[in-house]
Amino acid sequence: MEKTIVISLGGSLVSTDSLNIKYIQEFSSVLSGSPQNLKFGIVVGGGMLARTYIRALRDAGVNDNILDEIGINATRMNALALSSFLDDSNSKIPTTVNEAAELSRIYRFTVMGGTEPGHTTDTVAMLLAERIGANVMINATSVDGVYTADPRKDSSARKLENLDYDSAIRIAISESVGAGPNVFMDLTALNIAKRSRIKVHVVDGSNTVLIRNIINGTGNGGSIIS
Ligand code: UTP
Repeated sequence: MEKTIVISLGGSLVSTDSLNIKYIQEFSSVLSGSPQNLKFGIVVGGGMLARTYIRALRDAGVNDNILDEIGINATRMNALALSSFLDDSNSKIPTTVNEAAELSRIYRFTVMGGTEPGHTTDTVAMLLAERIGANVMINATSVDGVYTADPRKDSSARKLENLDYDSAIRIAISESVGAGPNVFMDLTALNIAKRSRIKVHVVDGSNTVLIRNIINGTGNGGSIIS
């Protein structure tokens, strides 16, 4: 039976000081080599491209709504860059989850970025998962899982291999006080996961072997929220 997995691909994996072609190739080959009965929705973040533009424009006094629009454009550039490495994927980046859901009936790989101001691509990925009935979302990100506390500040912090939605939400709330780039997932996305019972893998996306293992059901390597 056909199954769809949604991946939120952290922008920092794709867009570093330049575009990380080596990573994009590696990630694409994991997807292309996955079992043929699997389809994917991939939502790409903005990474350094978004960050440099947003920082410069914020310093110049540009308002937050426009900064979000700038970020969204960056995510769409990264999405288009990724889709050009995947056969059987859309080459026009959808601007809404609706449109992406329609494309997912045509293509094996549906690639998109952000949609509108006020949230991040984690939320877009979760909305897409909910919309197309995917019951697994992989958050391939810059942290390697969910910790009981911020491991950079608290040496007693432990990584949780399994946790429930409410615990994840509680940790995300406490992390979001003074948030930096290392929050494991956005709060809205977690609330959507909870209401639709979507299983979430939080994994260090820089290690594509871990992503492949999750896709193949042969390992976890991060944290599972369910
Ligand atoms: P990201 O989803 O990459 O944000 O979108 P992030 O989580 O802050 O960054 P990384 O990927 O983990 O490093 C980049 C920016 O684009 C805007 C926001 O300003 C966000 O910070 N954005 C993105 C939106 O406003 N709406 C969207 O749907 C997506």
